[in-house]
Amino acid sequence: MSINIAVDGPAGAGKSTIAKKLAKELAFVYVDTGAMYRAMALYFLNQKIASDDEAAISAACADVEITIRYENGEQQVLLNGENVNGQIRREEVGNMASATSVYPEVRKKLVELQKALAAKTDVIMDGRDIGTCVLPDAQVKIYLTASVETRAKRRFDELQEKGADCNLEEIKADIADRDYRDMHREISPLKQADDAVLVDSSEMTIDEVVTAIRKIYEEKCR
Ligand code: DC
Repeated sequence: MSINIAVDGPAGAGKSTIAKKLAKELAFVYVDTGAMYRAMALYFLNQKIASDDEAAISAACADVEITIRYENGEQQVLLNGENVNGQIRREEVGNMASATSVYPEVRKKLVELQKALAAKTDVIMDGRDIGTCVLPDAQVKIYLTASVETRAKRRFDELQEKGADCNLEEIKADIADRDYRDMHREISPLKQADDAVLVDSSEMTIDEVVTAIRKIYEEKCR
């Protein structure tokens, strides 16, 4: 049986950085489920479908094929055969993903793909509903969080480093909005699974978080 580590938490808590590092250490496959919701969202944006048009979004799901491929250990997301990794990190795509991931048709499609990936390999999968819905039997469940202030500052520093023009208060408001939407949607809202371990990364370095989660894994699976 494959070993599954589920990592859930709000946007900007460091899930992907940490899960990627730990996957490398443990020789597990890292599955970034947010990237799948982003690829779907990119399709809706390209088709100029409004995020509140549930009927159009549900119908469009039949025309979208999301596939995952690994190149040098890095997850690549293909949208109808096209590699869209370079396009899905935009703020606009993230917000569209948050808005359209509320629809059952969107979630059904991606949850099936995620379950299939985890059934055949040892994975560290990150997202919002992994421990609660996608992999309820995961051997290790982590709920990784950090304060809104910390997450906004990390994002601000990241954008500044890239030379982007940004405003800390706007980023903070954006993160708070996204948290609210992800936590209050009807289907599979973001919440800590009853059997998940809470890790607050506000005052921790990346390496400290990786070590803490690795310890939890070793206690449960060794
Ligand atoms: O993790 P991320 O920021 O790339 O995710 C983008 C959006 O996708 C997030 O705001 C909510 C949605 N999402 C989801 O509903 N369920 C997941 N398992 C992962 C992401």
